[in-house]
Amino acid sequence: MRDVDPEKAARQHLITRLDDPYCGEAQPERLIRDWLTPESDFFIVNHGNVPVVDAPDSYTIEIFGHIQRGRPLRLADLRSMPHTTVEATLQCAGNRRSEYDAIRRIDDPVIWDRGAIGNARWTGVRLVDVLEQVGVKNDASHVWLEGQDVGADGRFGGSIPIPRIYDRDAPPVLLAFEMNGKPLSPSHGFPVRAVVPGFIGARSVKWLSRILVATRPSHNSYFLRNHHWLDGPDGVDQGPIYGLKTNAVICTPASGAAGAGAGAGAGLRGAVTVAGYAIAGDPRAVVDKVEVSADGGRTWQAATLERHAVASCWRRWRADVEVKGPTKIVARATDSAGVVQPEVARWNRGGYLYDGWSVVEIA
Ligand code: MTE
Repeated sequence: MRDVDPEKAARQHLITRLDDPYCGEAQPERLIRDWLTPESDFFIVNHGNVPVVDAPDSYTIEIFGHIQRGRPLRLADLRSMPHTTVEATLQCAGNRRSEYDAIRRIDDPVIWDRGAIGNARWTGVRLVDVLEQVGVKNDASHVWLEGQDVGADGRFGGSIPIPRIYDRDAPPVLLAFEMNGKPLSPSHGFPVRAVVPGFIGARSVKWLSRILVATRPSHNSYFLRNHHWLDGPDGVDQGPIYGLKTNAVICTPASGAAGAGAGAGAGLRGAVTVAGYAIAGDPRAVVDKVEVSADGGRTWQAATLERHAVASCWRRWRADVEVKGPTKIVARATDSAGVVQPEVARWNRGGYLYDGWSVVEIA
């Protein structure tokens, strides 16, 4: 195994937020071109080096802990098991952090805008099938996952509560080796990564090297120090974040946008197409409705949602509104579990899961 800079193609159209370790997000207007996000537009979040595996045939994942039959799992073993393909949106918990940061400074080197999200078709083996083979003991409650990469706090890792892994109503948790029909690239976790549909991206551990079945949540330092909900002004720790929040996000037009072909400084006026993506908070839910307002939230109209309505996947939407002068264009989502996106996001110190109405200021 050697560590190299990941292939440039994987970052081709990304906006770099951090050079080392690399973090980059999609450009909002490119993000909503396709339902399945091409790799060149798929955000990347790294906490350490990008391991490049030269000999995938000898690549082995260790499985141990509260199981009946421990054994190393070779990549070849994994590939010989029945494959499952799942479409799922991956979203960084810090997506839209810039909107918290605009209210009050967030102490984090990476201030994401709205592009730390992407939707892909993942192929791999269901984690339940692997657990079935090794026999999980009754007292087990969490599955710890650890990557090969090493960052400032050691190896990256975390854990998933066992009920999520066995939840038959939610898309399955995968040990994936393909993304959009191709082997994972080094940037996205080659040769194997976890994909936990409907959970924050941090739980989908890349370059998976160890699986530990345990009776408590992971004590990996990244899991203990990051992605916790530090509530309110005092930052009271309410524990690790797993799920997402129901969210509609405007990708176009951009704030302060001048109309195409309009003179410098002229505001956007007349018929304006507003477009974006929306996700449901619950892994089992889909987005049912997106509403758009061209008057800052006084009156609303229904946006047109795309046909695809797949649990744990985003749904793109668009609406034509009339802009008469300086205003705020606003969007909000409702999901099939009845959750309505709130006007204001609840403050948390890490700046996670911003879910206030998406607002674009028209000058
Ligand atoms: N897995 C490892 N091993 N190392 C990491 O730094 N970053 C996590 C997760 N899995 C990370 C990881 C975070 S915070 C996110 S949001 C997703 O990977 C991003 O996945 P992507 O880079 O493939 O888009």
